[in-house]
Amino acid sequence: MALVEVKDIFKNYFLNKTSLEVLKGINLKINQGEFLVISGPSGSGKTTLLNIMGCMDKPSSGEVFIDGQKTINMTSDELADVRAQKIGFVFQNFNLFPVLSVIENVEYSLLFKPWSSIEKRKKAQEALSMVGLSEFARHKPLELSGGQQQRVAIARAIVREPLFVLADEPTANLDHKTGEGIIALMKKRNQQHKTTFIFSTHDQKIIDQADRVVKIWDGEIQL
Ligand SMILES: Nc1ncnc2c1ncn2[C@@H]1O[C@H](COP(=O)(O)OP(=O)(O)OP(=O)(O)O)[C@@H](O)[C@H]1O
Ligand SMILES: [Mg+2]
Repeated sequence: MALVEVKDIFKNYFLNKTSLEVLKGINLKINQGEFLVISGPSGSGKTTLLNIMGCMDKPSSGEVFIDGQKTINMTSDELADVRAQKIGFVFQNFNLFPVLSVIENVEYSLLFKPWSSIEKRKKAQEALSMVGLSEFARHKPLELSGGQQQRVAIARAIVREPLFVLADEPTANLDHKTGEGIIALMKKRNQQHKTTFIFSTHDQKIIDQADRVVKIWDGEIQL
């Protein structure tokens, strides 16, 4: 069984009474342990597809299965639960809470986990240690460099022990060398823990590391 499966996904946006067809019949199966890149030109629909796989957005038609579970008829509460239990997110602009400390940002990701606060703190510390940021636990995100902030975001994504991590252009705001470090970190996690990563990216450095590259062009997968 595929970890994530999207079947015949269409997505339309409506702007000023005109409909824009952004995804035009996407079919994709992603297996456990993959380090998969979705690439394609700007505006081709990569983020839209990632948001649908991440249960943050619904397709206009088609079906989405996460870990064999059909999500298309779920309520927003049920979708929030799938996200909290099964999916980690890494974004281009890090999306950390500026008022929370680094460790609080990581712990926030465990809000819906049925773990004690001691356990949550321990998991958050372990995740920060994995990304090499233990000594920054009490700092605020804005006191960190971009690369360090993205490391916090990775810790936040993996601390949930998600089934898969969705990373939308995770290196786009980083310089070449910092980006390399971030990719190496995710690749290591992928190899050691078999965590599945699904990227949207133009970054050749990530593409070079991918097990599989899916190309999107104008809302369709290029075969
Ligand atoms: N909320 C929205 N409302 C209307 N149109 C949208 C919305 N979100 C995206 N679009 C449009 O859908 C198309 C695909 O956008 P999407 O963000 O998925 O592209 P992308 O492949 O991620 O591009 P990029 O590489 O620039 O991030 C674009 O034409 C965009 O303008
Ligand atoms: Mg995008």
